[in-house]
Amino acid sequence: MSSKPQIILALDVDNFQAAKNFVDKLYPQIKIFKVGIQLFTSCGREIIEYINNKGGEVFLDLKFFDIPNTVSAAVRQAVRLKVKMLTMHILGDEEMLKEAIKARDDEAKNFKVNKPLLIGVTVLTSKETTSSDVLTLARIGIECGLDGVVCSAREAGLLRKEINKSFVIVTPGIRPANTVCNDQKRTATVQEAIAAGSDFLVVGRPILKADDPLKAAKELM
Ligand code: C5P
Repeated sequence: MSSKPQIILALDVDNFQAAKNFVDKLYPQIKIFKVGIQLFTSCGREIIEYINNKGGEVFLDLKFFDIPNTVSAAVRQAVRLKVKMLTMHILGDEEMLKEAIKARDDEAKNFKVNKPLLIGVTVLTSKETTSSDVLTLARIGIECGLDGVVCSAREAGLLRKEINKSFVIVTPGIRPANTVCNDQKRTATVQEAIAAGSDFLVVGRPILKADDPLKAAKELM
């Protein structure tokens, strides 16, 4: 789908100052920062505004999964926060996805802001699964009108081949070659993820835990 694949840094830290330090150190080499449930619960709005004001972009990864009314209301709030993209579980059901899309379009128009990309989570990369399960979920999400899906690099190629539409692929579980991985099961290197057709590569610990995060980011890039 997109022009050049980009690395997204998963800001999996527990406070504003730690997140700010990584953003200051890594922007503009890294332009998109993922705010997940840990950091959002700690200092959500503050860090999102900080990243936006600096010129970066935010991937809001809260993986919404609730009744359609609640999810679409949360999507409206995310639109107001001016995030670049946000996630929801495709397992949340078609009605939830469609209402979320409607809410996103409506709120972006009312507030005259860019529409964030709505990205559907298939199966978490910490779990083993079959490619066909991931494909089934991805198809549901894209047919409902989502802009893209999260999947591992292992399934990305299959999704590109089987789903005959333009959509974004986001792949977490990125690891440098020859690393022993911790909890992530379906991992891939940057090269494998790009070859499989991924647009956005989410990287957390390989950069966050490095002695020199900027050097680690540059090496991955
Ligand atoms: O540290 P690591 O590189 O494993 O971080 C991966 C990030 O991607 C985490 O923030 C995790 O929440 C997120 N993620 C994932 N699998 C998904 C969706 C998001 O690992 N399916």
